[in-house]
Amino acid sequence: MRDVAVIGVGMNRWGELWEKSHRDIWTEAALKAIDDAGVDHVDAMYVGTMSGGLFVGQEHLGAMLADQLGMGPIPGTRVESACASGGLAFRQAYIAVASGIHDVVLATGVEKMTDVDGGRATYALSTAADQEYECYHGITFPGLYAMMARVHMHRYGTTREQLSAVAIKNHHNGAHNPLAQYPMEITHDVVMKSALVADPLRLMDCSPVTDGAAAAVLVPLELAKKITRTTAVRVAASAHATDTLALHDRPDMAWLGSTAKAAKDAYQQAGVGPKELSFCEVHDCFTIAEIMVIEALGLCEKGKGGEASAAGRTALGGEFPVNPSGGLKSKGHPVGATGVAQILEVVEQLRGACGVRQIKDARWGLTQNMGGTGASSVVHIFERA
Ligand code: COA
Repeated sequence: MRDVAVIGVGMNRWGELWEKSHRDIWTEAALKAIDDAGVDHVDAMYVGTMSGGLFVGQEHLGAMLADQLGMGPIPGTRVESACASGGLAFRQAYIAVASGIHDVVLATGVEKMTDVDGGRATYALSTAADQEYECYHGITFPGLYAMMARVHMHRYGTTREQLSAVAIKNHHNGAHNPLAQYPMEITHDVVMKSALVADPLRLMDCSPVTDGAAAAVLVPLELAKKITRTTAVRVAASAHATDTLALHDRPDMAWLGSTAKAAKDAYQQAGVGPKELSFCEVHDCFTIAEIMVIEALGLCEKGKGGEASAAGRTALGGEFPVNPSGGLKSKGHPVGATGVAQILEVVEQLRGACGVRQIKDARWGLTQNMGGTGASSVVHIFERA
């Protein structure tokens, strides 16, 4: 296997992009990444997307977007793993470069979710849960995560204020991200006055519905050192694990087994542990998710994620900063694009290009992207090369 580096990243401003088409937003991000990398061609491309069919009526995205890119008849592959589609698309690109199959590979993610109304968006998202045992009985993702939150609160004493602390911190970070969908500061009072979505989760505990895309260019590390105009970022680990699709089949609803397994594998590959990480970008689709993810990554003890968040340990200047980009909560969550955008933030942090939200002396960054209630998790670790 060859060492792999990321030499280019790009994304557009996320939000309700009614004036742009699905292919427009993808192209904008893809061309920004190619331009940033300074390459004149790509050998292959991967597209992470959850449901082009249900959101915009367009499938066959590997071929459609390769055609749109206009770089010849290159292999274009669509990758789907619900909200982890972007992270998994990046992993496929990594495997293609590491194995020696291709030298210059474009990893992308895209979702255009606001062309349908809220009900249809909720239905499209719910197809990532277990249709027979969960959705037919009326549950949706906010409801599933609300149950996880209730179990966590009951078992570990996690409080409503601790859930709010995650949203407040991520909106604070996102307020410094010019590409974020909701770049505003919020308070606990704002969270508590927002609409109740699925008890105990309120609107301000939820990631939004978003249009957006993100892209990255990967090459062998040796080639990166010769061609990059900026800091090359080495992919130190790439890991993927799964869990039961239905929440009730898990031995513990308050534990993310797929994230813990992928993290264990990633730490082993990279030769570093949670203590060495300078920061993480994690999948805070709901505030309780970030609390459970930091536990599964080993950043804090099991059951202590809420306490760690409220104590400021995950803040920008904290012991282990989490989601300096603003996370899914503030930056937005165009499901297929999220995993690639997490990698963009890590690359820019390791380049030292994040301005006010820059993590001092950042050397190691981790991304954790998950599908559904954690039925799939993809973890990557990056090092400033
Ligand atoms: N955070 C902050 N503000 C939000 C928001 C969010 N998550 N979602 C919507 N808003 C704002 C809107 O901008 C709008 O503001 P305005 O009145 O000033 O214009 C207002 O809240 C209402 O927006 P609307 O689009 O009508 O909200 P909604 O009730 O249709 O949807 C949610 C809100 C939380 C239900 C929706 O965002 C949602 O389903 N989120 C979860 C998505 C999800 O499950 N993703 C997959 C995770 S596994």
